[in-house]
Amino acid sequence: MLILGIETSCDETGAAVIEGRRGTNQVRLLSNVVASSLPLHATTGGIIPENAAREQIKFIIPVIKEAIEQCNNLTIGDIDAIAVTFGPGLIGSLLIGVETAKTLSYVWNKPLIPTNHLLGHIYANFIESGLNPKRYTLNANVEFPTIALIVSGGHTDLILMELHGSLKWLGGTRDDAAGEALDKIGRLLGLPYPGGPNVEKLANRGNPNKYKFPSPLINSSDFDFSFSGLKTAALRQIQTMQPLNHSAICDLSASVQKAIIDVIVTKTLKAAGQYNAKSILLGGGVAANQSLRDELQSSIINHKSSIKLFAPSKSLCTDNAAMIASAAFFSANSRSASGGNYKEIPWQKVDANPGLYF
Ligand code: KG4
Ligand code: ZN
Repeated sequence: MLILGIETSCDETGAAVIEGRRGTNQVRLLSNVVASSLPLHATTGGIIPENAAREQIKFIIPVIKEAIEQCNNLTIGDIDAIAVTFGPGLIGSLLIGVETAKTLSYVWNKPLIPTNHLLGHIYANFIESGLNPKRYTLNANVEFPTIALIVSGGHTDLILMELHGSLKWLGGTRDDAAGEALDKIGRLLGLPYPGGPNVEKLANRGNPNKYKFPSPLINSSDFDFSFSGLKTAALRQIQTMQPLNHSAICDLSASVQKAIIDVIVTKTLKAAGQYNAKSILLGGGVAANQSLRDELQSSIINHKSSIKLFAPSKSLCTDNAAMIASAAFFSANSRSASGGNYKEIPWQKVDANPGLYF
């Protein structure tokens, strides 16, 4: 089954083609094109939704064309279905992907699979690349039950997944998401947008124990997170240290990153233990953070646990369309596996849903 994926939930414009085979636990990546408007958002220090959507309307058709052309000898006739992110996300951005996908579904006469962006972040773990196998990890052995941790600019969520298609939301952030906190603190430190990767770069040169920032809710009995207090604590600390020199910025970056990672690692392992998870799946832009990956892995080893940690290749952590096509493939198949046949949703009934959750 060949699926064309389309993703425009935030500032990226993505199109990708994946091939899925029934009965296998991974899909093959045939092409993955992402056009980013990050340089534009760097000039404003964050995303202005209308600016993002204006860029996406320019990118969407060339990006889809490129994704198809990158698959040698592929014709439109070979594509079995179109998957599109219908939420959650920015409404203006979502509409561009959804309306384009609906139009293509009608004109090309292809089934349309509206797909949850958050599910996409989880299913990035099930992508094997046919493009450049060396660049991507092969995640063929995800065993259930699994705990999925989504850490992105908009979300910090823990999800229990018993099987494909069987998901239970365990908890999430009560205020800022982990990526949002890193972006905002990055801005306070004078770093370019997005803060996350820049904080990581400087944190590698800093002392994570130099400043003690709070890791909120680290010992709470639920699976919730809260990062807005950390942002305020960082602001107060930074105000007392003006002007900031380079080594102070590195130490502050490392200390903030540590506070965020400590709470994420603790809660993820707690969820994994409580639900007897055999694996943990990382997803979302913050999952590209090497310290987070390393800390989770060493914590698993320290607990003498046999849980396997999976993380997508870094380029598949941030928003892309391959993960959307992957999620669509598995949800289409899990629906047929659980009884009824997969029902395509008529394009007329697909609408963008900015507030969509699990
Ligand atoms: O998943 P994503 O591309 O978009 C959303 O769905 O939100 O995530 C973007 C977020 C941003 O907050 C960005 O700062 C963060 O992911 N991010 C990182 C890293 N790369 C991206 N945070 C920490 N370390 C990174 N290497
Ligand atoms: Zn995302």
